[in-house]
Amino acid sequence: MQISFYHPKSTSLHLRVAAWMMLVKNDHFLAGRREGQGTALLPLFFSYTVSCLTRLGLLPNFASASITPASFSHATGEQSEIILMAGWDGEQGTAPLPPYHLPVLPLEVAQWMNAQPGECIIDGTLGGGGHSEIFLEAKATVLGIDRDPQAIAHASKRLQRFGLAFQPWQANYSQMADHPGLSDGRKADGILLDIGVSSHQLDSAARGFSFQKDGPLDMRMGPNAPRTAAELVNEESETEIIRILREFGEEPQARRIAQLIVQRRAVKPFTRTGDLAGTIEQAIGRHSKTHPATRTFQAIRMAVNEELALLSKALDACIACLKPGGRLLVISFHSLEDRLIKQFMQHRARATIDDPTWPAPRDNPEYYFTLPVRKSISAGKTELSQNTRARSAKLRVAVRNNRTTF
Ligand SMILES: C[S@@+](CC[C@H](N)C(=O)[O-])C[C@H]1O[C@@H](n2cnc3c(N)ncnc32)[C@H](O)[C@@H]1O
Repeated sequence: MQISFYHPKSTSLHLRVAAWMMLVKNDHFLAGRREGQGTALLPLFFSYTVSCLTRLGLLPNFASASITPASFSHATGEQSEIILMAGWDGEQGTAPLPPYHLPVLPLEVAQWMNAQPGECIIDGTLGGGGHSEIFLEAKATVLGIDRDPQAIAHASKRLQRFGLAFQPWQANYSQMADHPGLSDGRKADGILLDIGVSSHQLDSAARGFSFQKDGPLDMRMGPNAPRTAAELVNEESETEIIRILREFGEEPQARRIAQLIVQRRAVKPFTRTGDLAGTIEQAIGRHSKTHPATRTFQAIRMAVNEELALLSKALDACIACLKPGGRLLVISFHSLEDRLIKQFMQHRARATIDDPTWPAPRDNPEYYFTLPVRKSISAGKTELSQNTRARSAKLRVAVRNNRTTF
């Protein structure tokens, strides 16, 4: 077992101190943080540990340290049982924020966005603000968007130290062109969409996304979703429920599940996630480690939040919002979404298009991007060992050319 220290001014300072693992284990998890969020205890804990290690002669000349929050997960570049961090200057002594979401692919996002001082980056999926923090630390301005008021509130608190450089706005990312920060006709140097749900949304029983934690059958990412999951399962026709489960969940047993939902709701409408999960299990049984309700819950969530339709609109909006040379980064977690993104980018990166019925290829009227990397980018081993959510994350990158929109 090992403990890793990270010191931003000297990335080579990577100490392994086997003997101290047991001593600091519990303290670390009490005082540590996972998202680069504020903590009042951390400086105290850190100086205590440093003084103990120094007294033992294990840590000579170690006076102070700070860490950039975005680099937390990847700071050591090696597997560690424990990572000790110090807070950064502006944050020490602030009240702790509860963990919200650990951003996926932070190094890759930082590398491909390559945010520069003074640039304008749209973060269309603010969530806990982890990715935005990377851009803000590079001294860019961030126009943040999220449809979830809880995400707006959390990220605003976390990123308040950046002042006017961070401009949050509660809306759908498909409305990004109307962000108040673009009202003067300004265009963005980069756009990030990290689509799907945040860990906070998934893990809060009260939001109704979880089949493991009983809660109200809601699943709306924000108040602008047209209906709740309960309204969908209690009011849609059997045929429509089958379509939703097949199309958005690729659920092979869609018919069987929809039949039982319709029978059961006639007796008592669904109001709780636990009830719906139990009915799905009753319909198709449990045959593997994966909960039988996984695909159905995902499909209902995608339908409730109109995820694919809004993603499609958002991708179109990105064309108009990016300046020439502007970077578009899209992270998805689901094959349906990744397919949509891949087709969008590949089609718009073709200068010409062809059809067997045409005498010759024609100019592509939708040629708006170049692709600096054709394949999707996935998380590396270090990140996978620290963030299970990163397993299915795929990042695709496109760069806007100078063709104007009409
Ligand atoms: C995976 S999380 C983003 C996490 C974020 N990158 C971070 O570093 O914490 C996705 C976020 O996108 C938001 N979201 C999903 N669909 C949206 C949409 N159509 N418009 C605006 N926000 C959306 C969700 O509410 C959620 O907070």
